[in-house]
Amino acid sequence: MLVCIPNLLDAAQLVSLRERLDRAGDAWVDGRVTAGYQGAPVKFNQQIDERSDVALACQRIIVPALERNPIFISAVLPNTIYPLMFNRYSEGMVFGAHVDGSVRINPYDGRKIRTDVSATLFLTNPSEYDGGELQIEDTYGRHSIKLAAGDMVVYPATSLHQVTPITRGVRTSCFFWVQSLIRDDSQRALLYEMDGAIQRLNQTNADEVARRSLIGCYHNLVREWSET
Ligand code: NI
Repeated sequence: MLVCIPNLLDAAQLVSLRERLDRAGDAWVDGRVTAGYQGAPVKFNQQIDERSDVALACQRIIVPALERNPIFISAVLPNTIYPLMFNRYSEGMVFGAHVDGSVRINPYDGRKIRTDVSATLFLTNPSEYDGGELQIEDTYGRHSIKLAAGDMVVYPATSLHQVTPITRGVRTSCFFWVQSLIRDDSQRALLYEMDGAIQRLNQTNADEVARRSLIGCYHNLVREWSET
């Protein structure tokens, strides 16, 4: 399931992030430092050193926005969020087709995180660069994603995906992975659809007994399927 989340960040948060990232200097390193043997040969970009102060400062802006975003919570059902990372592509940079590594080690505490969901939060507007589309493949074909600054896409980490070459400008983004309470993408998709339907029924004051029953089913499915 691929879900776009509009306006995760507001204009003031975007300005604050962009100022920090644009002035990060030596904290920008070759993106291959965190690539596995499959990704390294096709990865040509830069990313912020995970242990730098600028990474921590930017994480502190975005994580609270994630935690209070109802679409993110409903679609991802997060268990553990990998420390957020930041990358940029300037002209000629590209990240060829790959599948993200299945397990990552948290650089701060050494714990392993299973990557169930991949996320990209766009920090530059499409007018600022050409190319640089995030192309994600699933059973319905290839989806080209290029969102406004402040918008985010989440998709199954099992997906083959790539970032097409940048032909003008610079594309800066935040990216990260989540270990979900619900490992299976099709189960997560069912729960997301059910939660959306319940929200609509709540807004339209539908029959209370039926709503209570559906909400019970939702929670009991989460209980049945979740792992912590
Ligand atoms: Ni990737």
